[in-house]
Amino acid sequence: MPVRSYISGTGSYLPAKVLTNDDIARHIDTSDEWIVSRTGIYQRHIADDNESTSDLAEQAALAAIADAGVAAGDIDLIVVATTTPTHLFPSVASGLQARLSTAVCPAFDVQAVCSGFVYALDVADKYVRSGQAQHALVVGADCMSKILNWEDRNTCVLFGDGAGAVVLSARDEHEGIIASRLYADGKYKELLWVPNGPSWKKSDKRVDDYIQMAGSEVFKVAVSQLRNLVNEVLADSGYQPQDISKMVPHQANIRIIKSVAEKLKLPMDKVVTTVDRHANTSAASIPLALDDAVKQGQIQRNDLIFMEAFGGGFTWGGVLARF
Ligand code: ACO
Repeated sequence: MPVRSYISGTGSYLPAKVLTNDDIARHIDTSDEWIVSRTGIYQRHIADDNESTSDLAEQAALAAIADAGVAAGDIDLIVVATTTPTHLFPSVASGLQARLSTAVCPAFDVQAVCSGFVYALDVADKYVRSGQAQHALVVGADCMSKILNWEDRNTCVLFGDGAGAVVLSARDEHEGIIASRLYADGKYKELLWVPNGPSWKKSDKRVDDYIQMAGSEVFKVAVSQLRNLVNEVLADSGYQPQDISKMVPHQANIRIIKSVAEKLKLPMDKVVTTVDRHANTSAASIPLALDDAVKQGQIQRNDLIFMEAFGGGFTWGGVLARF
C-alpha cells in the first residue's frame, strides 16, 4: 500500500470560562428556551481578554503531540485553520513552531472559516502522502467571541472559543485518510461575513467590524450542500453510509447535524455532538469533537470516521478516514 496519512494523536483545549444561555439572556433579548430549541446549544467556553487563539492552539497541539507519542522536534509541517489569528501577521502556525520548538519546517494558516479544519487536514494529507512531511500538526483554533457583536442576538448566541489538534503521520499499512472533497462558492459571501477588513472598509460603523449572518439562508444552503458532499465523498471511496462508524460534523446547529444524518439514514448514536457544550467554535469544532469522542471511547482505532463542515465563503468540505 502506498504511504497514507493517519491520525496518530488528538488533543483539544477549551478556555476555563463558561457562558450559559441564561448568562447571555441577562444582557440581550433572548432566552435559554429559544437558543436550545433553535440550535441545541446550552453553553459555550469564552477566552479571557488576555487569552489568544495562539494560547488555545498551543495547549491543543501539546496534547495531540503527546497523544501521538512523537517528540515536538519530529513535527515537520504545521497547518493551522483559523479566522481569528492572534496577529494580522505573522501566522498562528509560525508562532506555534517557536512555542513548541518543532523542526524548522513549513508552517502556515488556512482561512476557510468553519470549514477550515477539513481544508487544513486535506492540505496536510497531500504533504504526507507525497513524502514531504512525516508528522504534520494540524490545528483548528478560534476565538470567535472576539469578533462577535454581543448586542446582536442573531449571532452572539451561536459561537464559542476553543482549539483542537491532530497529528497526521505517514504510514503504509493503514488506510488513514481515504477520500476528501473541498468546495467554495464565493457568491454567497455577504450571507455570512465580517464586512470590514484590513484592506477594505464597508463603513465606519462598529457593527461592520463583527460577524453578520443571514441565519436561515445559511441554514438552507448548508443542509443541501452537506447532503450532496457526503454522498460524493462516499462514492469516491467506495464505502456506503452504513459503513461509517462515526460522523464528526462541524458543530454549528443540532438541526443541521440531524438533517444531514437523517438523509444518510445514520442513527444519531453514530453522530458525535458537542454543540450543546461547545457551541460553534468555527475551525476548532471538528477536532474538539473528535478528541472528545476519542477520549470518551466513542471513537476507537480502525473506526471509519466522516468529518464534514460548512462555513463562511461559502466553503464546505468532507474527509473520510480510517482512524
Ligand atoms: N433569541 C430570540 N430570538 C431570536 C434570536 C435569539 N437569539 N435570534 C433571532 N431571533 C428571532 C429573529 O429575530 C426572528 O424573529 P422575527 O421572526 O420576529 O423576525 C426569529 O427569531 C426567527 O429567526 P430565524 O432566523 O428564522 O430563525 P431560525 O429558525 O432560522 O434559527 C439560526 C436561526 C439558529 C441562526 C439558524 O438559522 C442557523 O443555525 N443557521 C445556520 C448558522 C450556521 O450554520 N452557520 C454556519 C457556519 S458559521 C461560520 O462559518 C462562521
